[in-house]
Amino acid sequence: TAVIPVNEKVGAGGELHQTAAGTHPPMTTNQGGIVADDENSLKIGERGPVLLEDFALIEKLNHFNHERIPERVVHARGAAAHGFFELTDSLAEFSRAKILSEVGVKTPLFARFSTVAGNMGSADTARDVRGFAVKFYTQEGNWDLVGNNIPVFFIQDAIKFPDLIHAAKQEPDRGFPQAQTAHDTFWDWASLSPESTHMLMWIMSDRAIPRSFRMMEGFGVHSFRLINDAGTSTYVKFHWRPKLGMQSVVWDEALKISGGDPDFHRRDLWNAINIGSPPEWELAVQLFDEEFATSFDFDILDATKLIPEEVIPLRVIGRMVLDRNPDNYFAETEQVAFCTTHVVPGIDFTNDPLLQGRNQSYLDTQITRLGGPNFAQLPINAPRCPVRNFQRDGHMQMAAPKGRVSYSPSSLDSTTERTNPTIGFKSFPAREAGDKLKVRSPTFADHFSQARLFFFSQTEPEQNHIVSAFIFELSKVQTEAVRLCLMGRLANVDEAIAKRVANGLGYEGPIAKAPTTVAVRTDLKPSPML
Ligand code: HEM
Repeated sequence: TAVIPVNEKVGAGGELHQTAAGTHPPMTTNQGGIVADDENSLKIGERGPVLLEDFALIEKLNHFNHERIPERVVHARGAAAHGFFELTDSLAEFSRAKILSEVGVKTPLFARFSTVAGNMGSADTARDVRGFAVKFYTQEGNWDLVGNNIPVFFIQDAIKFPDLIHAAKQEPDRGFPQAQTAHDTFWDWASLSPESTHMLMWIMSDRAIPRSFRMMEGFGVHSFRLINDAGTSTYVKFHWRPKLGMQSVVWDEALKISGGDPDFHRRDLWNAINIGSPPEWELAVQLFDEEFATSFDFDILDATKLIPEEVIPLRVIGRMVLDRNPDNYFAETEQVAFCTTHVVPGIDFTNDPLLQGRNQSYLDTQITRLGGPNFAQLPINAPRCPVRNFQRDGHMQMAAPKGRVSYSPSSLDSTTERTNPTIGFKSFPAREAGDKLKVRSPTFADHFSQARLFFFSQTEPEQNHIVSAFIFELSKVQTEAVRLCLMGRLANVDEAIAKRVANGLGYEGPIAKAPTTVAVRTDLKPSPML
């Protein structure tokens, strides 16, 4: 007969006390005191009231009561893994960053994939953008490439981000729908935000329902700068390309999976790593100079536009392998804090107004989310190189530096060198001049040409999927004015697309174009690489 592996004792009150078989170290409180009885609270008599004096009980309940922290205001649902980046092709000519110039060096990293709109407990296969954030622990400090699986974005200026997210998240009065684009508020906002049109095409495409995190592309989206030893700037766009190829599910599969296994993507990533099949991506760059930037059809500071790959081909420079699952979901996946300002010398920003807004947002939200200004000390966030400065105190300070001096300059005690022009991060001295204005550059105006380009670069089945997705989504919209406006927006892109969607929704007549002063370019050649 099988032996049931249990130790059993009878407690003072006659209750059964069971643990797994074997010997175990004693349980302690957080102060290290050994707990005499973790099954019964302290009472007056056997059936009397419970005493507040039971500090082991109070500590245990108090800690439990504070287990939750706020989830991320966006990208709340995610899964992550450890791994490394290995450079295979040096960009030393363009960047002084060691991670981009030292071939063969393996840099440890942590990558987190996420949906954007859904809450922490939502389903993995919702139609949504996926976050693709990578924290590289370089010798020169942390570099975070905080990207998405779609190369463009909904808006051009950060001032619109709260509106976009408020429209996409649950409606404030009813608290639903969750993780679905299919509701009036999202489409209301989108139909009145022409700059979102290109991204809508991507969101309605199969890109927004990936088969697996392991089969997604990733994009830095914005144009960044690389700066070399001589101080010369080259523009760069970053791309991740999955070794397994890009794959998606179809909408019916996504719906069924959402019900059958809401953890589909996180389980898939965990299992692949667990069985020793680590996913891998190539890191590739598009490099271009000021001359290209000024002659390109669209503004390279506009995050709703991309640079087609046949115009600037991708140059593969390295690989990322994710080969270790987190030890602890909360400590690592939940507490990791990515930020677009985490850059190293040799990588710099551009004036993209969306990027500039992001540069403010992440640190600010993390001070709330992670309970104060010291979260960079958490192991998952801490750089793997020396950190020396005189910031001190604050909630959850974990370091205990010795000495009287917490300022600089000082001759009383050891101090730091505050001026390190040759090795420190120096902003590219871009020449800027102009009046202070609340305007948008007219070079950002064309919202439809690349939307058109994207649609017609898709294969016929993929185009059909986009049309079906618009029909499905808009069929859930209850306000007719919103449906009509959005179809008018599609007519701005191409009347035939609008007609197909309109017919699918039961509209017979022609669809009026939404008002716009923008002329759509039809001369741009669709690219199979999109
Ligand atoms: C997460 C703001 C646009 C990618 C977040 C968070 C905020 C935020 C507040 C939560 C951070 C946290 O709690 O740790 C913004 C603002 C944007 C913007 C204000 C526009 C103005 C974008 C764009 C991308 C992006 C364009 C992609 C290129 C991400 C990713 C995360 C994230 C991947 C999740 C990071 C993680 O896994 O922890 N964003 N975001 N965001 N954002 Fe953005």
